[in-house]
Amino acid sequence: MTEAILLAGGKGSRLRPVTLRTPKPMVPAAGVPFLAHQLARARAAGVTHVVLATSYLAEVFEPYFGDGSALGMRLTYVTEDRPLGTGGAVRGAADALESGPADPVLVLNGDILTGLDLAGLVRGHLRAGAAVTLHLTRVDDPREYGLVPTDGTGRVLRFTEKPQRPEEIVTDQINAGCYVFRREVIDTVPAGRPVSVERETFPGLLASGALLHGVVDRSYWRDLGRPACFVQASADLVRGVVASPALPGPTGEYLLMPGARIEEGAVLGGGTVVGAGARIGAGAVVEGSVVLDGARVDEGARVHASMLGAGSYVGRGTTVTGAVVGDGARVGAANELDHGARVWCDARIPDAAIRFSPDC
Ligand code: GTP
Repeated sequence: MTEAILLAGGKGSRLRPVTLRTPKPMVPAAGVPFLAHQLARARAAGVTHVVLATSYLAEVFEPYFGDGSALGMRLTYVTEDRPLGTGGAVRGAADALESGPADPVLVLNGDILTGLDLAGLVRGHLRAGAAVTLHLTRVDDPREYGLVPTDGTGRVLRFTEKPQRPEEIVTDQINAGCYVFRREVIDTVPAGRPVSVERETFPGLLASGALLHGVVDRSYWRDLGRPACFVQASADLVRGVVASPALPGPTGEYLLMPGARIEEGAVLGGGTVVGAGARIGAGAVVEGSVVLDGARVDEGARVHASMLGAGSYVGRGTTVTGAVVGDGARVGAANELDHGARVWCDARIPDAAIRFSPDC
């Protein structure tokens, strides 16, 4: 049996306003909470017991996923009264594990979509005899991430979180947010106080001489922390660029959830998902976007690479590009919302109030 801890308690502040009412792992990607994709992938890799480490809006997880039997696994919920960071969460969740001291335990960030072979990562961890094995991926611009240089054998040499100075950028390998811990190593993390695995636990283990093993993997990888990335990940799931056993329909250029209504002449594509009860008006164009349950896009509107919150409304002829419209928000007709725009939940934007000027 392989066990996993899934970190699902962060505030998801970079994804606001989407995360004001829904914790990031419960925001629907390709029609189901993103967490459902992660759990299904874990199950497919042989994981049979997952401890969900929750904190922010913790009460919404269990009513949806229950005891996990619908997914063919067992779920245990552990909730921090106050967020204890990634390390504190792992330590707190450990009490619910059943693995022996030398057994491998997967630890997964709740906001990473990856095609990584999880079972292969666990096998590599056991072969290397490592204290912790880290999934690493390569990115063009590593400044927002934790850099993890390794030697020729995969031994981790250093950790540099979010490097600012050019001389600190010694590799394009970054911490991809998926680890295998030897169970007894988790027990060394201090309990009951905030701890960051990235800033405290891993550097501490390195300093003590422990073997930390890095596995660079080139399969699909995306951090869903920002709206543009979340929307792209959802579109990739819909189009089958990355496979998920939890996709609630066939792969294709768009996915309609039950009760979604598409009026005549509307054009959907680019991996768009239209949520339950949502409506796309006549002649509207929706490309590469996430339209959540009950949202409405009026006639002739154009929505591209954007996220429309549950119950939101986009008026006639309005264009929304690379933007987020929060739950229940109403954007009137003939507006132009462009890259980075975020309309807060329940906000009201009158007709023809916003114009995009490419010169600013
Ligand atoms: P931002 O606020 O936008 O940075 O997002 P976040 O709060 O999710 O933080 P981050 O992306 O760094 O978190 C990585 C993973 O760890 C996510 O899956 C979070 O849900 C999870 N996480 C972060 N902090 C905590 C915490 O204090 N407790 C628990 N249980 N999980 C956490």
